Amino acid sequence: MSKLPPVLQKLALPVIGSPLFIISNPKLVIEQCKAGIVGSMPALNARPAEQLEDWLAEITETLAAWDRVHPEQPSAPFAINQIVHKSNDRLEHDMQVCAKYKVPIVITSLGAREDVNQAVHSWGGVVLHDIINNKFARKAIEKGADGLIAVAAGAGGHAGVKSPFALIQEIRQWFDGPLALSGSIASGGAILAAQAMGADFAYIGSAFIATDEARAVDGYKQAIVDSNSDDIVYSNLFTGVHGNYLAPSIRSAGLDPENLPVSDPSKMNFGGDAKKAWKDIWGCGQGIGAIRQVSSTADLVARLKREYRQARERLLEA
Ligand SMILES: Cc1cc2nc3c(=O)[nH]c(=O)nc-3n(C[C@H](O)[C@H](O)[C@H](O)COP(=O)(O)O)c2cc1C
Repeated sequence: MSKLPPVLQKLALPVIGSPLFIISNPKLVIEQCKAGIVGSMPALNARPAEQLEDWLAEITETLAAWDRVHPEQPSAPFAINQIVHKSNDRLEHDMQVCAKYKVPIVITSLGAREDVNQAVHSWGGVVLHDIINNKFARKAIEKGADGLIAVAAGAGGHAGVKSPFALIQEIRQWFDGPLALSGSIASGGAILAAQAMGADFAYIGSAFIATDEARAVDGYKQAIVDSNSDDIVYSNLFTGVHGNYLAPSIRSAGLDPENLPVSDPSKMNFGGDAKKAWKDIWGCGQGIGAIRQVSSTADLVARLKREYRQARERLLEA
C-alpha cells in the first residue's frame, strides 16, 4: 500500500464517492462523508456560481456538527471536482470559493494545470487527478498532482478503454502515491479487488445515482436498478468525449443506441449545452448489475462495508 496524506488515512471504507455532473449535491456528499467514505461533487453543479459558497458552508457546518456529536465515528473528508477545461469559464471563481473553505481534496478532470495544483497546496489541500492512461498519469504528477484516479473501461460518464489490470499495474511501476481505481465498482468484493491490484481506493459513481439523496429523476434511478452491462453504450456523440450511457435514455431521446453517429471531439463543451445533454442522456457505468434497489446512501455504504468484510474473510479462509 502506498503512503497516503493524513486526510486520506482514516476512512471507514477505502472508497471515494465520485463526482457526478448534475447529480451530486450537498445532501449526497454529507451522507457519504457521514458514512465514512470521501464524498464529492463537481463545483459546476452549483448554479448559479454563487451557490457554491452556500453549498460549501452547508457541507462544512453539517459535518463539523456531526463530528461534535459522533467523535467515535467522525466524518470522512469531502472533495470538490474542478473541470480544468478551457470551456469552464467559472474555474477562477470556483477556486477562490474552494480556497475560502480550504476544501480538503480537489479532484481535477479534463486537464492538468500547475497553477491549480499550487493553489490547492497553498491552503493545505490534496489534488487527485483523473486519467485514462499511463501517459496522462505521468503528466499529471509532473504538473504537481498528489494522487491519481485511474478511470478504466466500463466507468460511468467519460470513460477510458483500458483494462483496470493494465492501468493499475503500469502506474504502480513508477508511482507509489495515492491511487484510486474507477470503473464498474459497485460491490464490497470489487473494492477489495481494487486494493489487491494495487489501488488504495475504489472510486464509485453510478451506484450512488440509485440513492435517495442523488439529484436524479426517479426514472433514471429505476433504470439503474433494472439494467445491467448489456444496456450500457459507449459513445462520443453527446459531449465529444467517449463515455458510457444507459441505452434506454438514448432510445427515449429518439436515437438508436446500436447506430449512433460519431461526434467531433473539438465540440467538447461544459457550458449550457453540456447540462442539456447530460440531463436527458443518462451517464452510467457497467457495474450496475450489483444495484438491486434504490436505497439511502447510508444503506448502500453499509452494504459495501458488509460485503467488503465478507470478501476479506472468504479470502483468508481459502
Ligand atoms: C452521470 C455521471 C456524471 C459524471 N460526471 C462527472 C463529473 O462531472 N466530473 C468527473 O470528474 N467525473 C464525472 N463522472 C465520472 C465519475 O466521477 C467516475 O469516474 C465514474 O462514475 C466511475 O465509474 P462507475 O460509474 O462505473 O462507478 C460522471 C459519471 C457519471 C455516471
